[in-house]
Amino acid sequence: MSRSAHPAGPRHADVLTEGHYTAPPADLNALDPKVWAHTVSRNEDGVVSVGGIDVATLAEEFGTPAYFMDEADFRARARAWRTAFGHDADVFYAGKAFLSRAVVRWLHEEGLNLDVCSGGELTTALSAGMPADRIAFHGNNKSTEEITKAVESGVGRIVLDSFQEIVRVAHIAQSLGKRQRVQIRVTVGVEAHTHEFIATAHEDQKFGIALADGQAAEAVRRALALDGLEVVGIHSHIGSQIFDMAGFEVAARRVVALLAAVRDEHGVELPEIDLGGGLGIAYTSEDDPRDPHEIAKALNEIVTRECEAAKLRTPRISVEPGRAIVGPTAFTLYEVGTIKPLDGLRTYVSVDGGMSDNIRTALYDAEYSVALVSRASDAEPMLVRVVGKHCESGDIVVRDAFLPADLAPGDLIAVPATGAYCRSMASNYNHALRPPVVAVNDGEARVIVRRETEEDLLRLDVG
Ligand code: LLP
Repeated sequence: MSRSAHPAGPRHADVLTEGHYTAPPADLNALDPKVWAHTVSRNEDGVVSVGGIDVATLAEEFGTPAYFMDEADFRARARAWRTAFGHDADVFYAGKAFLSRAVVRWLHEEGLNLDVCSGGELTTALSAGMPADRIAFHGNNKSTEEITKAVESGVGRIVLDSFQEIVRVAHIAQSLGKRQRVQIRVTVGVEAHTHEFIATAHEDQKFGIALADGQAAEAVRRALALDGLEVVGIHSHIGSQIFDMAGFEVAARRVVALLAAVRDEHGVELPEIDLGGGLGIAYTSEDDPRDPHEIAKALNEIVTRECEAAKLRTPRISVEPGRAIVGPTAFTLYEVGTIKPLDGLRTYVSVDGGMSDNIRTALYDAEYSVALVSRASDAEPMLVRVVGKHCESGDIVVRDAFLPADLAPGDLIAVPATGAYCRSMASNYNHALRPPVVAVNDGEARVIVRRETEEDLLRLDVG
């Protein structure tokens, strides 16, 4: 993470050793459109609204904490990816970022495909009417039950992740009298994170089959020899929250080189390549994400150029954005509880949620922004740490941010860009009740995932 320390006055001096915050924004009431969903704005009365409904009304009707998702924004982002990649490519939304039946229906309507990585995600997708042939099934340790369900339901592809799985999927498909379309996931030796990528030795991880030592070529060899499999392509996924296209460029080059090697050895031109997901979004104003059109253009150019050089037909490209579609479309709304100013350090602002609804700060040291949304304020900026209500000092939602100094218990604050990997990674720690996801669109709000209840907790506890 690359935020620079702020050369703040003596008031903040102690913090500089362990914080990494920037200067307070010029206007604490401003909402940067980079980090907030499209329809979010501050009304004349100072209250923030989304989809035409103000947060005070939303909090009253749905409670806090809650995730509010801008449906129009979700659809617009999904459509932008679809349009950018056009008809010669496929966009598989990565369901792990956030999946619910409403989202599956939106994706279906907007012409996207879906990547799932567990039996639970597959069941959700199928139950909401996503055609099976538009689903890709992922995972490094798929169970026999999961593979059987995927093959039986007719998923468009299974992404094979190991030598054992090649045999297992072939066997299951054959015993069901089917020939399963598969891609082989390779590790290209590139690991990309945020603004950087490193092009060495990243085969040391659990996913995929390494290209470097000929294992991937061997996997293709074995898969092509099995009747239960139709090998349609090669898959690569290089990381998360990536801004720099250079990692994709290296990955594409190496995948195309494998296609050429397969053609030379087997006389077969595999028709598809999937370059995975991982495109970054703005969590704070300092992040500068790429536009889907720019990404599509870059990927198409790289693949076309490499294929021309290798005298290969250009394969059908697919990508798997999760965060880049859903991340910016939602914010988490919290009510402010206790406020503790620590002299010379910072002010701890406790909210009614925490690491159970957003584990990313604790897990990845992720950075978020925060704003007072139930009113505007002209008070001075105050350096805060937004923390949750869990019994754990690492229970931090926003590590370093500025909120108005007149913040008071009962105020509503919101953390933007929480659409991806927040509800999907939410937990019941301390028997917290996982918050609802409410879709807001054109003056209407509806719950798409309801809030957990204490009855839900007790229902699971059968001892
Ligand atoms: N395709 C594959 C094969 C993946 O493994 C992933 C993410 C994606 C696509 C989607 O990546 P996205 O476009 O959403 O970055 N929990 C972490 C991220 C883990 C992502 C794992 N795989 C986080 O909260 O940042």
